[in-house]
Amino acid sequence: MRPLFIVLEGPDASGKSTQLERLSAELSRRGIPVITTKEPGGTDLGKRLREILLDPRRRIEPLAELFLLLADRHQHVRELIKPALEAGKTVISSRYTLSSLAYQGGGRGLPLELVRRLNDLATEGLKPDYTFLLDLPPEVALARTGDRDRFEAEGLSFYIRVREAYLELIRKEPNGFVIDATLPPAEVTRRILERLPLA
Ligand code: TYD
Repeated sequence: MRPLFIVLEGPDASGKSTQLERLSAELSRRGIPVITTKEPGGTDLGKRLREILLDPRRRIEPLAELFLLLADRHQHVRELIKPALEAGKTVISSRYTLSSLAYQGGGRGLPLELVRRLNDLATEGLKPDYTFLLDLPPEVALARTGDRDRFEAEGLSFYIRVREAYLELIRKEPNGFVIDATLPPAEVTRRILERLPLA
């Protein structure tokens, strides 16, 4: 099997990290070399950027926020994702380009076309093979978050805009699938696995 680039998307607390672990365990069990990673914060530089991005005391302009996320993404693609794929490993990432379209586009109101163009620049055109949107009603997502970071502090209307954008965007994504994240974790994993060409 050729290495795949798989992306999990969805609001905070939709179970992305749980699924990252479950999928990675299942792929390893089948003898498929796999690494898991996340945005923001998949590299050393990214971890520093993540601290800045999530700090609830900080005021960040929407476009500055996007540039920070894109710096994280570019470093992530160059330092980790591309080398791993080239070394034959399947990469599963929690969040990628769709997050910027949903949060900075849908949520913050930046033009989608601009976000798209800058995403292309940051990723050098690297697209996921599969994208799974772990979809959760905004009320449920918000209720599940504990200590609020800068994004989670935005409240319900922000979450609603992000979800609407996600649902619209995933339909246009090649190999993009919506998974009901209110289902038990094992069922979510099963639904993801049945879409992947793992035979
Ligand atoms: P994440 O670590 O995935 O949060 P969680 O584990 O709670 O889901 O992401 C941190 C925050 O960064 C999240 O609220 C969404 C935001 N984010 C964007 O707004 N745009 C982006 O492009 C990315 C990658 C993340």
